[in-house]
Amino acid sequence: MICGSVKPTTSIFLQRLMAFHELVLIGDEAFRYCGQWAAQFRQRMGRAFEGRIIFDVGCYDASFLARVASKHPRIGFVGIDWKVRSLLAGAEEVTRRQLRNAVLIRGRGQEVARIFTAGEVDEIWLFHPEPCDRLQELNNRLFAEPFLLDVHQVLRDGTSTLTLKTDHPGYHQWALGLCGQRQPTWFELARAAREQKVPPQPDWPRVRAGDLVHPSQIPPASSEIKSNFEVSALSHNYWNDPAAKAQMQNRCFADELTHFEHRYTRQRLPIYLLELRKRDDSR
Ligand SMILES: C[S@@+](CC[C@H](N)C(=O)[O-])C[C@H]1O[C@@H](n2cnc3c(N)ncnc32)[C@H](O)[C@@H]1O
Repeated sequence: MICGSVKPTTSIFLQRLMAFHELVLIGDEAFRYCGQWAAQFRQRMGRAFEGRIIFDVGCYDASFLARVASKHPRIGFVGIDWKVRSLLAGAEEVTRRQLRNAVLIRGRGQEVARIFTAGEVDEIWLFHPEPCDRLQELNNRLFAEPFLLDVHQVLRDGTSTLTLKTDHPGYHQWALGLCGQRQPTWFELARAAREQKVPPQPDWPRVRAGDLVHPSQIPPASSEIKSNFEVSALSHNYWNDPAAKAQMQNRCFADELTHFEHRYTRQRLPIYLLELRKRDDSR
């Protein structure tokens, strides 16, 4: 337990969160079920557990996770977030819905390879990670080589995937660059138009040009990522892209807006999606 190191401003919420010890893993408890997640879900769910495990990184208040988990009672869901107050709301929601198939972790997504052992996870969701778009923050971006190599390790062989969704076009540029994918042509047109104070053309797709970066700031393709994953889905406007939605139709997140997506889609912002599938023959 980490009570001793808790700042006074967070301790009340942390103490309230700790009351959900059956449901929420805090501190080193996060690593308690490493290698035993299937057994743990079997214990919680009995024979209802079908064996699949989904990890939601940055689950916020777990409202999305709880909604999806209640529709898919045979799958085990693990949500992680750093924010105590959000997780507290999540723990209350999971309890209110009496879900046996959801566990929450107070921790950092970067710990994925300590939370799960090799091949233990079927899907990882990285939905609207913090953009970390200032120069000094770029190294904190979760979608980066070290995290993705750990993700590769914990994903099960076969058809397991990591799905990134973001509203942030600069983050999308970054992810496309690392994965060696072509940038949408209108990104550079929109960015240059903004710099030269020229209005965007009406036939360009909508993009928040102020968040786009110069091509020189896009990272080069990572050979490590390429040899470990294939890009299995890509959309520059997921909610208005029938082909991408059809491709995702058998996924349990396909038709569900996340908490933050509700906001973004109200503002008519495109949601970018990039999915990586683990290559079995990698490494
Ligand atoms: C913009 S919100 C998105 C929440 C949710 N996935 C959604 O789509 O509505 C990003 C969330 O990620 C969490 N977060 C940021 N960095 C994290 C990290 N390294 N590990 C775990 N959670 C993190 C934040 O606390 C926040 O709740």
